[in-house]
Amino acid sequence: MTRATAPGKFILFGEHAVVYGQPAIAFPLRQLRVTAQINIIPDAPRGHVRLHAPDIHYHAWLHEADEENPLRKIVELTLDEIHAQSSPAIEVRVSSEILVASGLGSGAAVSTAIVRALCQHFEQPLELERQSELVYEVEKIHHGTPSGIDNTVIIYDQPVYFIRGHQPERLSISGELTFILADTGLPSNTGQIVGNLRNAWEQNRPTFDTIFNHIGQVAERAKSAIAAGDVKSIGILMDENQQLLEQLGVSSETISGLLTTARDHGAYGAKLSGAGVGGIIITLVQPTASTRIVNALREAGAVWTGVTKV
Ligand code: MEV
Repeated sequence: MTRATAPGKFILFGEHAVVYGQPAIAFPLRQLRVTAQINIIPDAPRGHVRLHAPDIHYHAWLHEADEENPLRKIVELTLDEIHAQSSPAIEVRVSSEILVASGLGSGAAVSTAIVRALCQHFEQPLELERQSELVYEVEKIHHGTPSGIDNTVIIYDQPVYFIRGHQPERLSISGELTFILADTGLPSNTGQIVGNLRNAWEQNRPTFDTIFNHIGQVAERAKSAIAAGDVKSIGILMDENQQLLEQLGVSSETISGLLTTARDHGAYGAKLSGAGVGGIIITLVQPTASTRIVNALREAGAVWTGVTKV
């Protein structure tokens, strides 16, 4: 039996605009993980793979699964890459602590854990860059036109300053930042939201390009504020990024409600994180205020909260 894990992620600045070439900032969320386990099945024919994801009650032989099934796709891509298609039969078992469709990178984390587990099982190490490319292929099924930020931050497991098509830059951070993540309980369907925004952009490119550029400038200023450990400026920039996301039409009343609660209870700043509409919000807080703000967010309807320090 071989086991490997992968973290979730959260985007602090620049979601959506990153799809259009602007910079974004993201962090791995190491306290929530996906685990992939490989077990040999002695009595099945060579080359057979059984997929098992008990969390979503999914159980199928790989060759019988839908061709666009993300689990099938990542297993096939990886076995191809490491030339292990006709090895003794295996079961790929996946379990996840990451909420699906919440903006926490569950799809990329599942793919990453599987790539890692298969490479370990067959003792075929793969460069991180190549692993990221394989996961990106599957992200296309989830997201349509992904920027690549989710696979990058999860595979490299480092805070990143990311620009589509460029080598990711490791983010420099001064001091410690305390964030609360809170789930609205509403789904955030990335593929659909990114697709709707693309349609809107196609109808009115100048307006949307101006907003995307502005978000890119906010992300760039945030990079300097994070390097300087300037929490007040980071908070103000989060609020500014949120206003721009609202102009893009990817926020919602439920999100706004939680953001107002966080700010009213003394947060430095707050915004949606990920594709939006539902999913999670993120707020930067003073460490001593975190319990108070978590309780307030729960009372305001958050269905899950987590505190993370970076
Ligand atoms: C999804 O985690 C982030 C988006 O910017 C989409 C993408 O970058 O592919 C909304």
